Amino acid sequence: MGAGIIGVGRYLPDRVVTNADLEKMMDTSDEWIRTRTGIEERRIAPDDMDTSDMAYFAARNALEDANITAADIDLILVATVTPDRPFPSVACMLQERLGATKAAALDISAACAGFIYGMVTAKQFIDTCAYRYILVVGVEKLSKIVNWSDRNTAVLFGDGAGAVVMGPVSEGRGILSFELGADGTGGKHLYHEEYVVMNGREVFKFAVRQMGESCIHVLEKAGLSKQDVDFLIPHQANIRIVEAARQRLELPEDKMSTTVKKYGNTSAASIPISIVEELEAGKIKDDDLIIMVGFGGGLTWGAIALRWGR
Ligand code: UT7
Repeated sequence: MGAGIIGVGRYLPDRVVTNADLEKMMDTSDEWIRTRTGIEERRIAPDDMDTSDMAYFAARNALEDANITAADIDLILVATVTPDRPFPSVACMLQERLGATKAAALDISAACAGFIYGMVTAKQFIDTCAYRYILVVGVEKLSKIVNWSDRNTAVLFGDGAGAVVMGPVSEGRGILSFELGADGTGGKHLYHEEYVVMNGREVFKFAVRQMGESCIHVLEKAGLSKQDVDFLIPHQANIRIVEAARQRLELPEDKMSTTVKKYGNTSAASIPISIVEELEAGKIKDDDLIIMVGFGGGLTWGAIALRWGR
């Protein structure tokens, strides 16, 4: 048996904020945002909707899709850097709201790589048969920690949630290999004090290098090559960064997710949101080889090679 994804769900707030809307709020332009980032619009959650609310909506969809009940969940892992409060964790809030009474619960703080960290952690428990069903959520309400008068960061981010149920899948499917990494010396380039602070150029250079290398590493670990890849789901930070990863894998344009256009950078939520979007678009099919790769504040990174299907 392998450890794979058996159900997916996502939630995006209804409110769309376009680049034209931002032009009215700060000294920026639709042209700058599109050409430098690829972002056309993003979703922003209302004041009375917090991170745990979005996590709950996405999680419910994932449970339904997996055809299991909350009572079946053994562990809840929530990747987020925007929890409702330092404690209790979003995972514990979710545990109560879902009624997942037997589930252990904790949040994972690995910024935009958090969802990859969560999936890899879940795999260990499933592989050892310690747990059977694990809910992994990536969720952010970045709008509450962004400085709306700082054009260097405010135009980049969006709110949203994605969730997967992981569990045992048939032999040959599920996670084939993974890589996780961290470099605390780069923490100064992207951090949260009162607001998000970022050295865009340094993060950009790191991201382009690390995403490409991690993709190659997980392929090597799985005994596979670039030619075997069916679809790439990179963390949706910036179109130029994900394009560099696509080119490194020599993939055609239609073999990579680019949800950044519609949702901006939703940090830990961007990969699971993209999984759902691409499934719905018919881009991911059973037995496809999917590469997921992320990077973020910490600095952190992670990648997974996964054979799709239950
Ligand atoms: O999930 C991980 C989180 N972070 C990232 O992935 C970010 C990685 N970095 C990036 O995506 C890019 O570095 C940015 C999109 C943030 C910036 O793009 P860039 O091509 O590296 O631009 P830059 O920082 O070198 O800035 C170029 C110019 C500057 O003006 P001057 O100094 O050349 O006169 C900025 O002040 O663009 C200016 N600028 C803007 N202009 C209009 C920066 N932000 C804006 C803006 N609108 N929103």
